Amino acid sequence: MAGVTAACPLQAARISSRGLAHEQALLLQQQPSLPLDLEAHVARAWRWYRSMGSPRYVCAPMVDQSELAFRLLCRRYGTQLAFSPMVHAACYLREKRSKRNEVFFCNTNPQDWPLIVQLCGNDPGVLLAAAKEICRIEGVCAVDLNLGCPQGIARKGKYGAFLLHQADLVVRIVSTLSRELDKPVTCKIRLLPTFSETLALCQALVGAGCSLLTVHGRTKEQNKHLVGSCDWEAIRKIKAAVPVPVFANGGIADLDDVEKCLSFTKVDGVMSSEALLENPGLFSRNVNVVTGHRANQLDLAEEYLELAAQHPPDRLKCVRAHVFKLVFTGVQLFEDLRDALVAAENVKEMRWVVGEIRRRALERAQGRDVGSAGERSWYWRHWHKGVTDKGSELPRQGKEGGKRRGEEGGVESEGMGCLFGAED
Ligand SMILES: Cc1cc2nc3c(=O)[nH]c(=O)nc-3n(C[C@H](O)[C@H](O)[C@H](O)COP(=O)(O)O)c2cc1C
Repeated sequence: MAGVTAACPLQAARISSRGLAHEQALLLQQQPSLPLDLEAHVARAWRWYRSMGSPRYVCAPMVDQSELAFRLLCRRYGTQLAFSPMVHAACYLREKRSKRNEVFFCNTNPQDWPLIVQLCGNDPGVLLAAAKEICRIEGVCAVDLNLGCPQGIARKGKYGAFLLHQADLVVRIVSTLSRELDKPVTCKIRLLPTFSETLALCQALVGAGCSLLTVHGRTKEQNKHLVGSCDWEAIRKIKAAVPVPVFANGGIADLDDVEKCLSFTKVDGVMSSEALLENPGLFSRNVNVVTGHRANQLDLAEEYLELAAQHPPDRLKCVRAHVFKLVFTGVQLFEDLRDALVAAENVKEMRWVVGEIRRRALERAQGRDVGSAGERSWYWRHWHKGVTDKGSELPRQGKEGGKRRGEEGGVESEGMGCLFGAED
């Protein structure tokens, strides 16, 4: 790639002054379009990636779920990089300055490093204003642009996956952020209808200054009941063609899938969302990387609650949603405890539920660990009637058919929707 340069398409940008000081917006409009030195950009991207320890095991951005307490738990069990939930740039700027980071779950501490904060929005000026604030948070290593959210709320707000077809706009956003921020910009995308469109977008993003790409191997139409399998072949081809670090996302149920994905796609890291929610120990086969102790589901639930007490998330429903997934098996066995979890008004009451599951399980199953994953697990809940392709041929990975989860902010489950994030 020596000597390659890519034009920075900022010149024609019409940048709104909403959320920006007037002078700052004017300055942005007047900025000459400097071509990005792609070679230098790529070298910087890899230096930055190495400075974070070249992470391979990544916790996904998850609305109301990848908050500080959960990120800290995942890190104890092998997660090497975590993303905050998506932060709506305009809403972030509207929130009281003193509360912003807590409300949007981008508060952090030294144990929560490295952290990437994800932003969503469609206005380069507003995104820049929010990103500048976020880059001031110590420990934040980069800002990520959400180009993958397929939900109705993103359609309405014209962000996430609904920007994938607007290459000019996303390139303008990325080039604005990468030029104006002193921290790198990364992007999380879904696939476009054809591979050549996806590849062209990836290359445009990198040319605009994107330092790392996460590719969720599904299109925005593959959502809810149409989720389908994850296209690892497309991710493999993107990794081969794109000069900056690439993460694969989608179709990961356990550590064996992680290893298969790394070896098939040759990506730099694998990002997990749903499977990690149920088993935050996924990346280390449940071994605490500091103490060497192995944790079962109930241990993880108790550890999470301890962290949630130390770092209370802004909304209790997030804690409840975590506990529900962590002890999914247990609350299926003891329905009154499921009700108790729904009714719990604080972390202490949730702790009692977990303790009670443990006590009853020991009594009932003579010590059998009811918390371990299996047919009753949360991740597999949608697939028990459908095709499961565990052990199926690569490169399509993930589950076909059956009922399917909601994404980005809510989970539809069989009659238990009230226990999950968005509807809680
Ligand atoms: C509860 C939940 C919240 C999510 N929120 C976000 C988000 O804020 N930003 C984002 O880019 N993706 C979000 N996603 C999508 C995941 O990051 C990921 O792309 C998707 O779940 C596929 O990965 P998986 O197969 O490992 O679950 C969310 C998913 C879930 C289940």
